[in-house]
Amino acid sequence: MKVTVLGAAGGIGQPLSLLLKNALPAGSQLSLYDVSPIVPGVAADLSHIPTNVHVSGHGADQLESALAGSDVVVIPAGVPRKPGMTRDDLFNVNAGIVRDLVTAGAKACPNACYAIITNPVNSTVPIAAETLRKAGVYDRRKVFGVTMLDVIRSQTFVGEKKGLDPVTLKINVIGGHSGDTIIPLLSQIGVEFTRDELESLTPRIQNAGTEVVEAKAGGGSATLSMADAGARFTLKLVAALGGDENVQCAFVEVDGQPTQFLALPVRLGRQGVEAVLDAGQLSEYEQGLFDAMLPGLRANIEKGISFVRNS
Ligand code: LMR
Repeated sequence: MKVTVLGAAGGIGQPLSLLLKNALPAGSQLSLYDVSPIVPGVAADLSHIPTNVHVSGHGADQLESALAGSDVVVIPAGVPRKPGMTRDDLFNVNAGIVRDLVTAGAKACPNACYAIITNPVNSTVPIAAETLRKAGVYDRRKVFGVTMLDVIRSQTFVGEKKGLDPVTLKINVIGGHSGDTIIPLLSQIGVEFTRDELESLTPRIQNAGTEVVEAKAGGGSATLSMADAGARFTLKLVAALGGDENVQCAFVEVDGQPTQFLALPVRLGRQGVEAVLDAGQLSEYEQGLFDAMLPGLRANIEKGISFVRNS
């Protein structure tokens, strides 16, 4: 299995690559690409860790060799938010980065799966899909927006609030990956919440990225928890491609839903998405949040698709 990290020398890319170096199956290749000149050093650094994962580093003019033959391409490349910015404010810079990286992937590894971390995920996933479609190699089973961070934050915050072990909590988070588009389905987890608890937990989960951006005070957004979430998702995807099916929430292209892309639980298997699963019964509160965010999510998706069509 070859896993390529695009943006591997950045704040997310480095810890993500470390986690992958330590946990990918023996015999895997971990290919690290970045425009930063430190990427060969990051690769050399990681290569001293005694695991059976082979690491290679690729600089700015080596994108093709970094990507060649990849099974999974993970993309954290791009710029992060500063306080006062929304994820959508990153569109002008990050949209082109994702489009160009995926254009290279369409040639070098046309059958790869993509796990997209770069914000705004609600737009960059449609950008990746449309770029691959334009190149004639799009397979909707293989393009994912990583929303795992919303899931692990939900586990953590619910665990803290209710005195429960966060590791044992299974929480689906649907919708998208920004502010009010993040809908944690707390009514489904078998834990009783008061209305007050729901009305404090839900916005905390929705605004957790902003909580980190503000705490870092201009120094960027979540890198360590994002790397953890990205690694968790990538490892589950790699396991599924190897035949170990599992279910994870991710932002994918869907049919028969109110938006063209939506975060839902999906069954991962040898080809990527084997099935998009039903979100189950939403509470009245969750349904209200879901319905209210749809126009915004649709606009994010349309913005991404139009960007590629007009470029
Ligand atoms: C997050 O959820 O922490 C990331 O999407 C980064 C951000 O800008 O909030």
